[in-house]
Amino acid sequence: MDFEISDAVEDDVFRICSIAKKVLPEFFTADQVIRKINDPYYSVITGRYGGTIAGFSISRLMDTNNALYLQKRTVMEALGVKHLPASAGVILSVGVLPEYAHRGLGTNLGKNALEFLDSHIIGNESGKLFATYMWPNGTSGGLLKKMGFEPIPGWNGEQFKDGTREQLYCKLVLP
Ligand SMILES: CC(C)(COP(=O)(O)OP(=O)(O)OC[C@H]1O[C@@H](n2cnc3c(N)ncnc32)[C@H](O)[C@@H]1OP(=O)(O)O)[C@@H](O)C(=O)NCCC(=O)NCCS
Repeated sequence: MDFEISDAVEDDVFRICSIAKKVLPEFFTADQVIRKINDPYYSVITGRYGGTIAGFSISRLMDTNNALYLQKRTVMEALGVKHLPASAGVILSVGVLPEYAHRGLGTNLGKNALEFLDSHIIGNESGKLFATYMWPNGTSGGLLKKMGFEPIPGWNGEQFKDGTREQLYCKLVLP
């Protein structure tokens, strides 16, 4: 059966929270997800099989300094550039239930998140910057590579609840 991708609505929040609890190290409350659904700087997308939500993604338009946790220099060195655009598109979370995994839904949610970010982000002569914080115990390494993201060595992220640290992956699209 094929999946359907659509923007999340408020009725979807409990299912999104329960998927996040199962597959991600972070925990969202229903209120947090509702706020993101109603915030134009965020995109919350669902993927459904036969009407049942099997996965979701959350992405956000951000100030570059905040997105990179004030570590712009490390990122510029890793990417080999002297400047970065002022705003960045960040994929915050992608989660797919294991029983629906390996059927292309994660790739599609990621692609849709990038499309939202790409169409809303303001690029400049430095290009358009996309970022995501990878969870080392997750399974998105292959997915990120496929989407053109590269790891940023030397970048220090926050600690997840399982004790691992966020690893930054970036994709800079030059004009
Ligand atoms: C990462 C995730 C979203 C992928 O979802 P999916 O629907 O299985 O994705 P796809 O079917 O499009 O597969 C995309 C790629 O992800 C990788 N992948 C997916 N599941 C994997 C697993 N269990 N083990 C290792 N790699 C896996 C593969 O490289 C795959 O590429 P392939 O199809 O060429 O093998 C899903 O596995 C998941 O929710 N993982 C746990 C949470 C997580 O790590 N989220 C990302 C961090 S925010």
